[in-house]
Amino acid sequence: MKLSKEVKVLIHTFGCQMNRLDTDIACESLVSSGYKITDDESEADVVLFNTCSVRDHAEERVLQRVRQIDRPGVIVGIMGCLAQRMGDELFRLLKKRLHIVCGTRRFPFIDDLVSRALAGERKVMDIDESPLPTPGIFEAHERSLHKGIQGFVSIMRGCNNFCTYCIVPYVRGREKSRPIQAVVDEVQALVDKGAVEVTLLGQNIDAYGKDIDSSLAELLRAVHENVKGLKRLRFVTSHPRDITKELLQAVNDLPKVCNHLHMPAQSGSNHMLEAMRRGYSRETYDEKLAMIKEFAPGTLVTSDFIVGFPGETEDDFLQTLELVRTSGFQTSYVFKYSPRPGTYSEKNLIDDVSEEDKKRRNQLLLQAQEESSTARNNALVGSEHEVLVEGLSNRDATRLTGRTGSNLICVFPAPENHKELIGEIVRVRVDSATALTLYTHIVC
Ligand code: SAH
Ligand code: SF4
Ligand code: F3S
Repeated sequence: MKLSKEVKVLIHTFGCQMNRLDTDIACESLVSSGYKITDDESEADVVLFNTCSVRDHAEERVLQRVRQIDRPGVIVGIMGCLAQRMGDELFRLLKKRLHIVCGTRRFPFIDDLVSRALAGERKVMDIDESPLPTPGIFEAHERSLHKGIQGFVSIMRGCNNFCTYCIVPYVRGREKSRPIQAVVDEVQALVDKGAVEVTLLGQNIDAYGKDIDSSLAELLRAVHENVKGLKRLRFVTSHPRDITKELLQAVNDLPKVCNHLHMPAQSGSNHMLEAMRRGYSRETYDEKLAMIKEFAPGTLVTSDFIVGFPGETEDDFLQTLELVRTSGFQTSYVFKYSPRPGTYSEKNLIDDVSEEDKKRRNQLLLQAQEESSTARNNALVGSEHEVLVEGLSNRDATRLTGRTGSNLICVFPAPENHKELIGEIVRVRVDSATALTLYTHIVC
């Protein structure tokens, strides 16, 4: 459709990195149909929300934001996981404020939905219920770079795990891997645009390749070998069960692959892991940590935890606390259990841990992680690291910030030529440390 006047579209993005990528793909389809992307809400003719459903709080925040839009004539749409979960219920909930609902597999066609809404069609909705991704969902050509140097590539979609608390398999469908060559080509295209670090994304990334007779280890090797000009390659999120010796060997062998794994444990108690249907025990998780030390030494692990899952006793929680105290995680994200409509735990288990206990356990776990991170970072004072320079620090414009391959954040005084250093790898020595940051200076 040819637009008769310039129409400006704003997309607000919530949730995980996959959602950020989907926003980029949606923007691309809008631009190709003649729309202009803006980040100024006051001038937007169309405001879209790319949403997350992983916890109740994430959904409530979006609904609140939608209700706050009261400019007459503006077209409002909800895309992403909340759209997929609630479908046309959203029109009932938000009444005349909402014009478009677009599911997690239809965002490449958002331009068409926007055009229909602008032409006066009411309640425009496109939700694909088929479990496998729609063709086109992986394709993106004009992907934006973050900080001018970082690119993200989706290598698989969906999740087959059905952990009992989790909405992701319901809103994102079944696992589907992308062919190796397509990934290699996209990483190369991002590097040609200026990316020096590329992160491969998947909800359950170490299951990559199961459906196409391949593996993440094979993919990492192919990208490493064939992409010219790439400095660093990352991947998230790893499921503990699918971590293999081959994968760890690839991480160890390939110098551009960063030695960092985000490998959420969720709990340190077997009783909870079973109720969550995570598919591994505490012992297996500990074995995976030992395997990482053996086959990819120097690799740092970050984790997620859920506190207050139904039936979690104080003893279960203490086992989680002990895991955090002893495992040397680089950081941990801690979430209070939030029942998600339609999941096994919401339908069959009682949310019986009080809000007070959830809060207390959340704080204790964060505190334990902070103590562990502080001790580990302090032990690094005097050591040297290779850091990819990302840019000036948001907090202090006289310093540069960057990360080690193992994902430690390093800041250091910006030299005069600091612009030339962005996107370069420099060597730094650690002077002092906090739980989250290493204060360093450049040694070469
Ligand atoms: N695919 C990733 C996780 C995606 S969701 C994995 O398997 O690890 C990100 C994190 O949100 C999860 O690791 C979990 O800790 C948390 N989470 C998911 N569902 C939740 C729920 N219902 N309540 C609280 N936290 C939840
Ligand atoms: Fe959710 Fe589990 Fe799949 Fe992660 S592995 S997305 S927690 S169902
Ligand atoms: Fe949220 Fe959907 Fe990502 S539920 S975490 S935005 S896959």
